[in-house]
Amino acid sequence: MTKLGSYTTVALVGTACLGAMVWSAVKPGDGLGSQTVVMTQDAIRATADWFRRGPADGKPDWEAASYDMYDADPDRGAALMLEHGCGSCHAIPGVVGARGSVGPSLEGFRDRAYVAGVLPNQPGGLVRWLVNPPMHSPQTAMPDLGVTEDEARDMASYLYTLRGG
Ligand code: HEC
Repeated sequence: MTKLGSYTTVALVGTACLGAMVWSAVKPGDGLGSQTVVMTQDAIRATADWFRRGPADGKPDWEAASYDMYDADPDRGAALMLEHGCGSCHAIPGVVGARGSVGPSLEGFRDRAYVAGVLPNQPGGLVRWLVNPPMHSPQTAMPDLGVTEDEARDMASYLYTLRGG
């Protein structure tokens, strides 16, 4: 009985330690974890707003999304894409010298269903992709270019002006 008692104690202490480890691994803290949470919340809010506004004809209203999601500025977005060298890997209509072929052409981007096949092609998903592609697709050849969320919003708003051919 004493023996059983000590086994039970070991088991209980073990469980408690494991619990503490799991808690410290998942609890919201600082660093990347909380950044991700904030970004995800922003993206969810943006997407919810976008859906609430509602497309008039039952289709996503890309035009409206591109101009007034987040108060973004498509012209600034085009300038930022030039600055970040996106055109060395992508063909991007309207961006000077953007004729790269490492990544897919971004022509008609707003008609795609997914961003890089991993995130739904909605304003929030696109912004998350631009800020940190490898976070969403670890094997991707598109690097983290240090794009801020504000910059990503402007670039996303430009990309949503690109119609299919
Ligand atoms: C080093 C090359 C490289 C650079 C620089 C680069 N990309 Fe990419 N990008 C890629 C590749 C490769 C993919 C395909 C990713 C995949 O499917 O995993 C991609 C995918 C994308 C997609 C999704 C396309 C789709 O059809 O789903 C978008 C949008 C995008 N990039 C925008 C940008 C923007 C904006 C910049 C500049 C801030 C940029 N990229 C810079 C290589 C690059």
